[in-house]
Amino acid sequence: MLARVLFVLVGLLAALTMTSPVSTVSTSTVTTSTAGDKLVFCHFMIGITSNRQNSSDYDDDMQRAKAFGIDAFALNIGTDSYTDTQLQYAYTSAAKNGMKVFISFDFNWWSTGQGSAIGAKIKQYASYSSQLKVDGKVFVSSFSGDGLDVAAMTAAAGQSLFFAPNFHPGEGNFNDAQSALNWMAWPSNGDNKAPTVKNLVTVPDSDKAYIDALGGKPYIAPVSAWFFTHFGSEVSYSKNWVFPSDLLWYRRWRQILALKPRFVEIITWNDYGESHYIGPLSSPHTDDGSSKWVMDMPHDGWLEMAKPFIAAYKAGSTVALPYIEEEKLVYWYRPTPRDVNCDATDTTMTSSANNASGNFFSGKPDGWETMKDEVFVVALLKSPAEVHVQSGNKTRLFRAPAGISSWSAPMGVGQQKFAITRRGKTVLSGTSLKDIVDYCVCGIYNFNAYVGTLPAPSTIDRLQPAGLALLSQGLKVACPTNTLGTSSASSSSGMSTSTSTCTST
Ligand SMILES: *[C@@H]1O[C@H](CO)[C@@H](O)[C@H](O)[C@H]1NC(C)=O
Ligand SMILES: *[C@@H]1O[C@H](CO)[C@@H](O)[C@H](O)[C@H]1NC(C)=O
Ligand SMILES: *[C@@H]1O[C@H](CO)[C@@H](O)[C@H](O)[C@H]1NC(C)=O
Repeated sequence: MLARVLFVLVGLLAALTMTSPVSTVSTSTVTTSTAGDKLVFCHFMIGITSNRQNSSDYDDDMQRAKAFGIDAFALNIGTDSYTDTQLQYAYTSAAKNGMKVFISFDFNWWSTGQGSAIGAKIKQYASYSSQLKVDGKVFVSSFSGDGLDVAAMTAAAGQSLFFAPNFHPGEGNFNDAQSALNWMAWPSNGDNKAPTVKNLVTVPDSDKAYIDALGGKPYIAPVSAWFFTHFGSEVSYSKNWVFPSDLLWYRRWRQILALKPRFVEIITWNDYGESHYIGPLSSPHTDDGSSKWVMDMPHDGWLEMAKPFIAAYKAGSTVALPYIEEEKLVYWYRPTPRDVNCDATDTTMTSSANNASGNFFSGKPDGWETMKDEVFVVALLKSPAEVHVQSGNKTRLFRAPAGISSWSAPMGVGQQKFAITRRGKTVLSGTSLKDIVDYCVCGIYNFNAYVGTLPAPSTIDRLQPAGLALLSQGLKVACPTNTLGTSSASSSSGMSTSTSTCTST
């Protein structure tokens, strides 16, 4: 029991440490760049898009990303047989839609001795008009890749490159690179798991390590909203952890405005398996098994929240207020409190969904105690207003200033209602399509986030059949598909105007 109490306490301390104010970010070592040359990239997984039939299947992604201010997709490729087909579609669609793309070699699949093959692959796509060039050079990036034979790569590419790999300080040779991508967009223990009190590496800590290693060369700063992955024994490896996320998406964008790096990379557009997608659920893709924690969990509100931040970053402004085009409320939360037990055989559990006994997932995700039982709200306001949150039977009222502000309210089981009022008038209000429940949806731990917006979107973003293919595989309980906004969902849909239950705190 004491051990248990200490464990929880450690988690709380870790959470507190990690939420230190953004004002502590040091900008003293940052290389300044002039406004106008800043670019925003977004990491895009080609490995799950083998079901796309033509370049038009990429158009929605290209158009949507461009509309929000993203300049280029970093096309993450492995060595699958369909890679070239899909790269051609993506490059063609980007050219058609005025977007830029570049290849990001994933060294989970490529090896560092393959410099010539990598150079040849770069050359194959270098002449597309949609190929991103920086300083007139073909831009290339990677996931991992320390030790790559850069000379062989450059020789085979037959031209000088703007090489911006995900080398690691102290491991890769930064003299071989023109820039570098830091992948670690989440606080960690320094060893690819959630932080502990003893071992905490913040995102600004890793910014500093990269900026120092780059010695004045431009930096690709990572931005990510979330991290939860829950692959178990159904794949050949176990991959089951969270990085503390909560208000990370908001706080990181504030850091980016202060840091003013030359490049920013959003991680990711469509890596559903790690829950950090900001692209639509409906974006065509195959199911890698992640539909179990991705179904009914749209994230499009996160892209909407980022829009004024992206505009401010590119303008070199530390203030996002002038870039708010439309007043909005963006909210997110996990679907269950963190103490819900999905491995129970406990007879006190009443819901059948609670009895996931024997499910083949590897139990509660590592780091679960670093997530808070809170509902997170970001208000995008042109002038001050009140933000109302009703989470189950818990209510909160916040007096929000003009600009982009974040709030967190205690999580309550039940319906989730939000409103903005100003001078006694309701500006926006609505009930989320997703309730918070005290049982395990589909019988599994789900630490992904549901993201909603006010005004609510006119259509509900849903996984397509190919993205749901493995939904029920291995599950021990029934898992109804695409329940948001259907009669089987318990919440009312669309807008409601119930604000009377909100109270001031
Ligand atoms: C592209 O493929 C999709 C199926 O993935 C199909 O619906 C669409 O009609 C095709 N478009 C063109 C222009 O061939
Ligand atoms: C939970 O499921 C297991 C395995 O299917 C079963 O043996 C057990 O009786 C169930 N327990 C309850 C409380 O329903
Ligand atoms: C609030 O909701 C929780 C969870 O449903 C319930 O246990 C509690 O009794 C409720 N409190 C009040 C004051 O209604």
